[in-house]
Amino acid sequence: MPLSNKNSIADRLQALAEEGRSSTRVLSQQRAPADYDQLSQQLAVLISGEKDRVANLANCAALLRQGMPAINWVGFYLLKRNTLVLGPFQGKPACTRIEIGRGVCGLAAEIFKTVIIGNVHEFPGHIACDLNSRSEIVLPIIIDGKFIGLLDINSPEVDRFDHVDQQGLEGIIQILIAQI
Ligand code: SME
Repeated sequence: MPLSNKNSIADRLQALAEEGRSSTRVLSQQRAPADYDQLSQQLAVLISGEKDRVANLANCAALLRQGMPAINWVGFYLLKRNTLVLGPFQGKPACTRIEIGRGVCGLAAEIFKTVIIGNVHEFPGHIACDLNSRSEIVLPIIIDGKFIGLLDINSPEVDRFDHVDQQGLEGIIQILIAQI
C-alpha cells in the first residue's frame, strides 16, 4: 500500500521501514551506517501534529536509539538557568546537570558547534556517565539564534562518529526544532 494511503502512525512507520529494507545498499564499512534519510522521514511522521517539547524529544531519542547502530546512549540536555539539565534519553542513567564549559556537552554549549570526540579517554574533562562509552558526538540545538540545549550520543566504539553522522543528525535537529 502506498505511504499516502496509510493512516495510523504505526502503519506509516511500518511502510517507511519496509521501503528502507527493500532498497539496495552498498556497505562501505563493516556495519551498515545509519539511514538518516529514513530516520528523518520517520521523525517527521512521529512528531507531526504534536508541539509538546518533552514528548517530541522523547520520541526522537527512542527513534535514534533504534535506528543508529553501535550506540549505547542517546539523549538531550536542555539549558535551564545557564546549566544543562538532563532531558529525555535512552540508555543508562546519566548525570543530571552539566555546567557550561564542562565535559563534551559543556564545550558544545560554549562554542555552539557540533563536537565529535573519537576517543573520550583522550578528552580532558570528559564526564563519564556510561563506562562503556568510547566516542561521542554532541550537537547544539539553536532556535532563532538562541541555544536551547543539545543532542548527545555515545558509542562503545572508538571513532564511531564522522561528518556523515554530523550532517545526518544536524538534519534530524532541523526537523525537530520546527516542533519543539
Ligand atoms: N559525556 C558527556 C556527559 C553526558 S553523558 O555522556 C550522557 C560529557 O562529557 O559532557
